Formats: sequence, C-alpha cells, structure tokens
Amino acid sequence: MLWLNAMMAALMAAILVVVNLDAFDVGRKAVAITAMAGYCVILLRYRRQIRPAGPAGPSDYLIVYATETGTARQLAKITARKLSGKGASATITELNRLAEAAIPGKALLVIASTTGNGDSPRTGDGWANGDGFLTAYRNKDFAVLALGDRDYPCFCAFGIDVAARLGSAGARPLFDPVLVNRADPASVSYWFRQLGVD
Ligand SMILES: Cc1cc2nc3c(=O)[nH]c(=O)nc-3n(C[C@H](O)[C@H](O)[C@H](O)COP(=O)(O)O)c2cc1C
Repeated sequence: MLWLNAMMAALMAAILVVVNLDAFDVGRKAVAITAMAGYCVILLRYRRQIRPAGPAGPSDYLIVYATETGTARQLAKITARKLSGKGASATITELNRLAEAAIPGKALLVIASTTGNGDSPRTGDGWANGDGFLTAYRNKDFAVLALGDRDYPCFCAFGIDVAARLGSAGARPLFDPVLVNRADPASVSYWFRQLGVD
C-alpha cells in the first residue's frame, strides 16, 4: 500500500513539473498530463480493490439454523430481514458453524428443525463438538425457534435440546423455545412478536 501512495505522489509531482515545463508546448503538456492522470486513476482503483476490509464488528444478532429441507434457513432469512427493518444487524450461518462465528452484540437466535427420530439435521449434527466454545455464551441472551411435526413422538426434540444446552452453558433465554408444528404460521408470527419484529 505504501508503494502505491508513493507512486501516486510521484505522479502528482510529475504532473506539476510538466505543467511548469517551458520546453513542452501546450499540446505535449496535455498529452503528458492526460497520460499521467489516467495512470493515477488506475492506481486509485487498484488501491480501492486491495484495501483490507476493516474489522467487521459483531452483528447485533447471530441467527443460526439447522435444517434438513430448507424451512429453518428460510425462516432465518426472514427473521434477519425483519430485524434489519428495525435497524438491527443480523448475521446468518448454519448451526454447525456457531463455534467459528463472532459472538453477537445482542442475542443468539437459533432456528432448528428436528429430523429422523428426534435427531439433528445435517447442518446441526456437530454444533456442540467445539472445544468449550459455548462458555463464550455465558450470560448472553438467546432464543430458539424449534421446527417439528406433532405426528412424531419426539416433537421438536432437537431445538429443545439446543435450548437446554445453551441454558446449561449459562446463556440466558429471552423466552421459552417457540415450538412450531408443521411450519404453523401462527407460531412463526408468535416468534416474530417475541422478538419485537412482527
Ligand atoms: C424424515 C423426517 C423426520 C422427521 N422427524 C421429526 C421428529 O422426530 N420430530 C419432529 O418434531 N419433527 C420431525 N420432522 C418434521 C420436521 O422437523 C418439520 O417438517 C420441519 O418443519 C422441517 O424443517 P426443515 O425444512 O428446516 O428441515 C421430520 C420430518 C422428516 C421429513
């Protein structure tokens, strides 16, 4: 980056020199200045491209989903959109990546479906394997939206399990897990109301 700044400074100086050169006529000065100015523009664009991204601060909300057929992911996106409509920032990732994700400023929101016979979906089957990372969520607020189907004996078992493990790690539930039978819209609306984004 330093060399880029030095090159641009040198080009500016060269332009000033050319402007004041008596040996060049107006036409030659114009050609030289245009060429150097063009080169400056190219360097400026290049500088913008390689500028390292500033440290991305944590989002207000981290939304993690565990899904088998996409419903939880979809609801995660809708939740994020509604939160941003209220001026809050939200990051979405799958539950298995929770250990790598930045701790949110306000709360962790988990949207988790259940599959098999009370089992985790593939996007959440290794979420708690990390090395004690859950301690980072001690005293952090969280909420769980658990998706399931009452026809199965272990209704919403995985979402309920995630909520219990977060609670055991010292995280603070904003409210009881919201259990959703067959993507029931009334329960989903209740989730949004609880979050204050309905
Ligand atoms: C093969 C299969 C197994 C399921 N097992 C359960 C279960 O044990 N408990 C439950 O509450 N729901 C169960 N469900 C229902 C899903 O959790 C429910 O349809 C959910 O909305 C799916 O969300 P997803 O699209 O995010 O995976 C099962 C669904 C399928 C297709």
